[in-house]
Parts: sequence; structure tokens; C-alpha cells
Amino acid sequence: MSERSVQLHVNGQAVAVAAADADMSLAEFLHERMDLTGTKVCCGIGVCRACTVGMRSSQDALMEKTLACVTPVSAVANQHIYTVESLAQGARLSPLQQTFLESFAFQCGYCTPGFLMAATAMLEHLKAYGADQLEEAIDTWVGGNLCRCTGYVKYRDAIRKVAQLHMKGGA
Ligand code: FES
Ligand code: FES
Repeated sequence: MSERSVQLHVNGQAVAVAAADADMSLAEFLHERMDLTGTKVCCGIGVCRACTVGMRSSQDALMEKTLACVTPVSAVANQHIYTVESLAQGARLSPLQQTFLESFAFQCGYCTPGFLMAATAMLEHLKAYGADQLEEAIDTWVGGNLCRCTGYVKYRDAIRKVAQLHMKGGA
């Protein structure tokens, strides 16, 4: 067990983690200690990516992603963690959330938070890709996320739509 408490930020809020909780998985910590249940756990072994959350090394850094089911809280000390609950501003959904809805991108929705957070991180990295490399970007950032309802085509269409707007400075 880790001996020291851990500091981190979750959805913009500073959080002090008790030393006894430092070895919990990040997913369990979010659920049990922060009441943030939007992050879903499916396989629990780092394969399906349902539990993807965003992570920045500092407030201004680009968003990366991590798998909350296999990441102990102690491994994200001093990081800024973002869950699906961070995306909407009040009743206003993020462009990805809104487009997922309008495109009927998901079915049961269990994998959706993971797709949303992976795609949200991807949008911040799009500058590294040319317009003709968008499919490669989607493969890299979201291609490993699994959907048991097999809704891949609609997810991809929705993500492509938002990414194209983003590349034009519109989303
Ligand atoms: S729940 Fe499957 S990778 Fe985390
Ligand atoms: S929408 Fe059901 S698992 Fe993806």
C-alpha cells in the first residue's frame, strides 16, 4: 500500500486522496469516493477501453487518455483527470455528445463515455494531422475502443463530422 496521500484534480476540482485509497483503481475511486459514475467498467483488464478518461499533466497541456480500470490512483498523482461528466456545460452538451445523439451513434450506451473521452482527447491533437490524415487520427485515438453493440460505423461518422468541423475551427 502507498504510504503517502495523493493530490490530483478531477474535472477541475482539487482532490486529496487518502493514503488508504491510493492503490484503488482510478475507476473505483471515481465511483466510490467521488460519486462520478459516468466512467464505465466493462472488461476491467485494460482491453475494451470503456473506462477511458482524459488526463492532462497540467491545466494547459493537451489532453491524453488513460484507462481508469487498470490505472491506480497513485499513478495519476498531480494529474488533471477528466471524466464524461466534465463535457456538458449545464444542459449544453459538447459537440461530440450532441453529434453522437443526433447521429444515433450509440445503442445501449455503455461504451459511450469511453468513446467520448477518447474522441475529446483526439480533437485536441488534430493539429498534428493533415486533413487527409483524419481516418488515421480516428484509428489512433478511438480505434481501440470496443462496442459490444457493434455501432462502430455511426460512432466513426459522428466523430469524423465533429473532427472536420474542428479542423475548420468550428467545433
Ligand atoms: S473496462 Fe475495459 S479497458 Fe477498462
Ligand atoms: S453502444 Fe452498447 S456497447 Fe457500445
